[in-house]
Amino acid sequence: MATKRIGVLTGGGDCPGLNPVLVGVVRKAVALDYEVIGILKGWQGMIENVTMPLTRDKVSGILTRGGTILRTSRTNPYKRRESIEKVKANFKALALDALIAIGGDDTLSVAQKLYEQDGVPTVGVPKTIDNDLCGTDRTFGFDTAINIATEAVDRLQTTAESHDRVLVIELMGRHAGWITLYAGLAGGADVILIPEVPMGVEEVCQVIRDRHRRGRDFSIVAVSEGADLGEGMVLQEQKLDEFGHVRLGGIGERLADEIERRTGFETRFVVLGHLQRGGTPTAYDRYLGLRFGMTAVELIERGQFGMMVSLRGNDFVPVPLADAVSKTRTVDPELYNRLKIFFG
Ligand code: F6P
Repeated sequence: MATKRIGVLTGGGDCPGLNPVLVGVVRKAVALDYEVIGILKGWQGMIENVTMPLTRDKVSGILTRGGTILRTSRTNPYKRRESIEKVKANFKALALDALIAIGGDDTLSVAQKLYEQDGVPTVGVPKTIDNDLCGTDRTFGFDTAINIATEAVDRLQTTAESHDRVLVIELMGRHAGWITLYAGLAGGADVILIPEVPMGVEEVCQVIRDRHRRGRDFSIVAVSEGADLGEGMVLQEQKLDEFGHVRLGGIGERLADEIERRTGFETRFVVLGHLQRGGTPTAYDRYLGLRFGMTAVELIERGQFGMMVSLRGNDFVPVPLADAVSKTRTVDPELYNRLKIFFG
């Protein structure tokens, strides 16, 4: 039987753990005697047929490195029918038997449509620092992001205390508050604002005033970029990307201004931004990446296409891509409300 050829691409925002997934894919493929073709720059590389062979040598030494050696893009081939035709033609030209798409909801929704509407055998791997994909307990990249964000909150605590200041930290996550909730709790933030539960500025100010009354003259406020202060989300620009997303950002500054105006306490803000995505993955994300990568190849071996590898408890199991991208996995407001005992 001819050797199987697997294509693999990384799409969407980069994320710590992408390179470990590539190691997992290649090591399992080599063990099965498959060839791996790396597609460069996400779906753009499939449209333009830009590739590189992924051998054991090529992935040697990348386990600990952030980013992706395959590069990435937010290209959506379903924006234009001719792009999809090119993807299909290149799949054939490259003599691929299957394609692994490593990405978040956007990248994986393309993989799902390719499988269901255009008959391309795809398998997905759940990537995103936002942890907002359904069908899996965890996405890789989240653990690294919350560790970086927690360290940032820790550092703000000491400078806030020294100066009797309020410090607002704006964190990523789009429409899901997971990063802010986890890092906010772990770093001991006094108020945590997430998109799932709108909170007015007055309520935030009240928590801060109460702390002052108790002699705590400094406070930390962790706010998700997509949080709602009662007037909808704060946008950096109106322009939409190829998947229809706006660029969020600016809520940290707005909230800091408003807190200072209403309470009179000196307030500063920090936007942690892409620091949450850059750099070396944690041990957990490396482990997750390796296991996700090898499991994706196992699915191909078993002919289980149109599926995403997922973590359920301690098991790595397949779930339909359609389920994974059906909706955004967000924080349960009831859980958030219970966790409010940690505010202030
Ligand atoms: O989805 C990951 C993410 O980092 C979000 O948390 C954030 O809103 C977005 O990507 C930022 O995207 P960009 O890389 O285009 O600035």
